[in-house]
Amino acid sequence: MSYKAFVFDAYGTLFDVHSAVARHAEAVGENPARVSEIWRNKQLEYTWTRSPTGKYKDFWTLTSEALEFALEAVPGSNKSVHKTLMDAYLSLDCYPEVPAVLAKLKESGAKTAILSNGSPEMLASAVKSAKLDTHLDDQFSVHVVRKFKTDFGTYSMVTNAYEIEPEEVAFQSSNRWDAAAATAFGFDAYWINRTGQPQEYNDLPPKKELKDLNGLLELI
Ligand code: LAC
Repeated sequence: MSYKAFVFDAYGTLFDVHSAVARHAEAVGENPARVSEIWRNKQLEYTWTRSPTGKYKDFWTLTSEALEFALEAVPGSNKSVHKTLMDAYLSLDCYPEVPAVLAKLKESGAKTAILSNGSPEMLASAVKSAKLDTHLDDQFSVHVVRKFKTDFGTYSMVTNAYEIEPEEVAFQSSNRWDAAAATAFGFDAYWINRTGQPQEYNDLPPKKELKDLNGLLELI
């Protein structure tokens, strides 16, 4: 079956979230990799706390709060890099294969879109900076529904907008929890396991595990 839409998680899937700290590693302090890891983990944790409780704050704010925590938590960090790192988050590197794969998927006639927790401005900025705008039909931000993934109301933004069924969507995420929830929603989820993580959520398997986006080209 050919898919009507290829929909992508943004951070970690298209964009390298660790590229912000990597660019400014020396300025960050003694343990930049640990700062970047805690920053990402806290950013996600805050979404999981706020979505079910109805205490929504946009992803840009949560990203900023998570970075504050990370710089405080890791000894030997330089707190004055906060603004520099937030600015870098607006122009994260995309992974090398992303532009060509998106272009080919779009050429095949399928819709191509992002579905992300990211707030609209931060997504637009990252997309523009990585020159992905012409390869994407839409950038769906959960900000519209004021819930974060894994709420089904976020995944249904896609099926509602395109008036298609969940099984007509190939959904790509590097986050196993996101792929698990997308599977539960009814999407065909492709887990982009760039870092060789072990399998989990065995009762919610992805349609396929891929090491990067190139494997998607077999689907068109
Ligand atoms: C996103 C986060 C979860 O882009 O990576 O939605």
